[in-house]
Amino acid sequence: MALFGETVVEAELEELFEALGRELGYAMHSAVNARQVCHIALSGGSTPEPFYMRLVTDPLFRGLPWDSVHVWMVDERRVSETDPRNNFKMIRECLVDHVPIKRRSIHPMPVLTADPAAAYEQEMRDHIVIRENDAFNFRGPRFDFLLLGIGQDAHTASLFPGSSALDVADRWITVNEGPRVTPPPRLTMTYPLINAARQVAVLATGADKSQVIAQVRNAGKPDPRKLPITGVRPNNGAMIWFLDEAAAGVTPQESPGSP
Ligand code: 6PG
Repeated sequence: MALFGETVVEAELEELFEALGRELGYAMHSAVNARQVCHIALSGGSTPEPFYMRLVTDPLFRGLPWDSVHVWMVDERRVSETDPRNNFKMIRECLVDHVPIKRRSIHPMPVLTADPAAAYEQEMRDHIVIRENDAFNFRGPRFDFLLLGIGQDAHTASLFPGSSALDVADRWITVNEGPRVTPPPRLTMTYPLINAARQVAVLATGADKSQVIAQVRNAGKPDPRKLPITGVRPNNGAMIWFLDEAAAGVTPQESPGSP
């Protein structure tokens, strides 16, 4: 079975990040050309860190239209911005502090406020044109590009197997916590918001992701309660997996003459 959407596999991280950066750049330019603004949402975790740094350092990505881009968060841990577990702390340090983006276009999740889901949804209403999307029965923001990761248990964003956030169909953002959620408590985008995006990219690298990728590939029909990533199926947008060979489970060919 194939993964849902398209898959890009590269042997080296260098090439994989270049391919992902080009795709992101294309999405940014298309959005700015069409709507004069681009809304992207990013994930934390350790996998995208070197990718964010590459966007800052590689001259290939110097022309990205950051002054027309808004950066949002896919999910966040409910800890202060100085806590090393805070996703935005990493994204600020690796990316947004180093690109010419307007301060008011940077949207960390207000995780420590009393009703952070409502507050972040309001922030979206304040900055994103909200349209009816009759084709897939969704009134809400359509992000131009979402970057997701995947955990070894197939969670994505902070949508963990068996957790309550998987069932939230009437909100864009929700708190996710409890025994099924790896602590600390989280704030996360919900499926309806994720699946409304124009483009979703999933980045996974390293051999420790090969088992979960194989499991998702072999799952057949989607089973979001067990494998939350299988609930990600953009309604009217593209989905691309960006994998290195280790995560894709490609065994390196034995070189001729090797013992
Ligand atoms: C987070 C993420 C989460 C992440 C996966 C993969 O807050 O941790 O947004 O969904 O993408 O857990 O994490 P790694 O990249 O660290 O493996």
